[in-house]
Amino acid sequence: MKKILDLIGNEIAQAFEAAGYDATLGKVTWSNRPDLCEVQCNGAMAGAKLYKKAPAMIANDVAAKLSECKTIKDVEVINPGFINMNIADDFLIDYVSEMSTSEKFGLEGSESKKMIIDYGGPNVAKPLHVGHLRSAVIGQCVKNLCRYMGDDVTGDIHLGDWGLQMGLIMTELRKRQPDLVYFDPDYTGDYPVEPPFTLADLEEIYPCASAKSKEDEAYKEEAMNDTFMLQQGEKGRTALWKHIMSVSIPDLKKNYDKLQVSFELWKGESDAKPYIKDMVQMMKDKGFAYESEGALVVDIKKDDDVKEIPPCMILKKDGAALYTTTDLATILDRMSDNAPDKILYITDKRQEMHFTQVFRCAKKTGIVKDDTELAFLGFGTMNGKDGKPFKTREGGVMRLESLLKEINDEMYKKITDNREVDENEARKTADIVALAAVKYGDLSNQPTKDYVFDIDKFTSFEGNTGPYILYTIVRIKSILAKYEANGKSADDAKINVIDSKHQKDLMLDITKFATSIQAAYEELAPYKICSYIYDLANSFNGFYHECRILAEEDASKQESYISLLVTCKKILEECIGVLGFSAPERM
Ligand code: ARG
Repeated sequence: MKKILDLIGNEIAQAFEAAGYDATLGKVTWSNRPDLCEVQCNGAMAGAKLYKKAPAMIANDVAAKLSECKTIKDVEVINPGFINMNIADDFLIDYVSEMSTSEKFGLEGSESKKMIIDYGGPNVAKPLHVGHLRSAVIGQCVKNLCRYMGDDVTGDIHLGDWGLQMGLIMTELRKRQPDLVYFDPDYTGDYPVEPPFTLADLEEIYPCASAKSKEDEAYKEEAMNDTFMLQQGEKGRTALWKHIMSVSIPDLKKNYDKLQVSFELWKGESDAKPYIKDMVQMMKDKGFAYESEGALVVDIKKDDDVKEIPPCMILKKDGAALYTTTDLATILDRMSDNAPDKILYITDKRQEMHFTQVFRCAKKTGIVKDDTELAFLGFGTMNGKDGKPFKTREGGVMRLESLLKEINDEMYKKITDNREVDENEARKTADIVALAAVKYGDLSNQPTKDYVFDIDKFTSFEGNTGPYILYTIVRIKSILAKYEANGKSADDAKINVIDSKHQKDLMLDITKFATSIQAAYEELAPYKICSYIYDLANSFNGFYHECRILAEEDASKQESYISLLVTCKKILEECIGVLGFSAPERM
């Protein structure tokens, strides 16, 4: 469907033309003085310079041609030359009716792109912590949004499964159990099927090893050697690595499931390995890579850089691959498996320079074509109420599981406070609402900004929060259920009258759906969806408080109200689906 402002704008443009002015002046916007009018056109001001005429004269000429317009009413020229207007009721009724029966409420999708989004990045053998929350929450939402707009999107978790943490675990394991066959270079038999550790063991071994390596240089050397041996494909370490993966991955899956975050691909840094050798050779052969202070680098500076972009390091002095090497090789893997038009990375914004280097190097060396889009969405830090990165009460890194439990418990308290509710149902509802609280709390901010994780605020049923949106949906569901209890069907209700300002405000907000979703998509800005549904929920609640819906005696009015409620509920549900959460039946 065409946007409502474009339809109105077309008529105004015609009026400009009829009055002898340029049609492009007839652009219409939502009014910035909603107390005065609903929409406005400021074209007369721009026309004043062009035609060397007072803007009010132009505005009056145009206004005189507007009497036949179907989309607007109440035209008023305000000094110095604003054209203020309201939207015609019949036109708005038709527009909203068409929206309510159109797929995606008339939203026109984009030209479909094949995309990979990289929004996981957890490191195997380390538990998920709050830092992983943002990439998961934003990434899942951006994936949903791109799909909603018609893109063909694959989500890749891109596990950190190839780094020093693997060597650290192996070193510590050898100290504790030196007799394990994995450490015997002469062992020729099959390795045991059962892993020599549990998840709980791993979760204790890793931090212990990490602490030791920080104090003991020799220990760290040993861990680096284990990592090196693993990367060389030594069989004992490879077998141990497989065990670490098989123990960790189900736990990661469980945690992402709880967040309702999913990935189509569970690949990792290790999958890039087969590409590294040839890639490095290609960079050398084609003269892109050269030796600098013993390391192998590629220059990626551009003439118009305003800040220093250091060369992209491909191999360290000792020949070891780096984070950049893995990411470049991963692009090769993705190109050969999926051939995407676009790869989008969602990580902490502190990784921005890394991705600038990777992207430039990939383009320069021909790893991707010129028209393959490589994009980075960096997010800020999630802080505690003290404004510092979120920590446990003891000052340690907060595990994601603990954080979610805290917010679930808080939500459960709120739901059961002063109320008789079934324990089981209350728990389920608390889980659903808590997830909305966490996700909305994150997504309602601009991704690049830091934000404060404030449990009291996020779980509140009032204000710009997830629970407020859910509460609004639940309220609408309950009204509709009561309406249907009388044997009527809400879905069959048709809108045919507008009878109050609150009703019209709700309708105007409904018409803003497509513009909001499109802006969120184009700017990768989920917070624009949040602002939209917050406004819509406010409009609904304003309407609900001012108008009697179920008690309305005029059947045609009541039907109009119900029809609006159905559309409003569907839009809210569809939007929260894109944001990545859902509403309970009751709250
Ligand atoms: N594992 C990395 C980390 O914890 C994040 C990976 C992000 N994705 C990527 N392709 N580099 O910092």
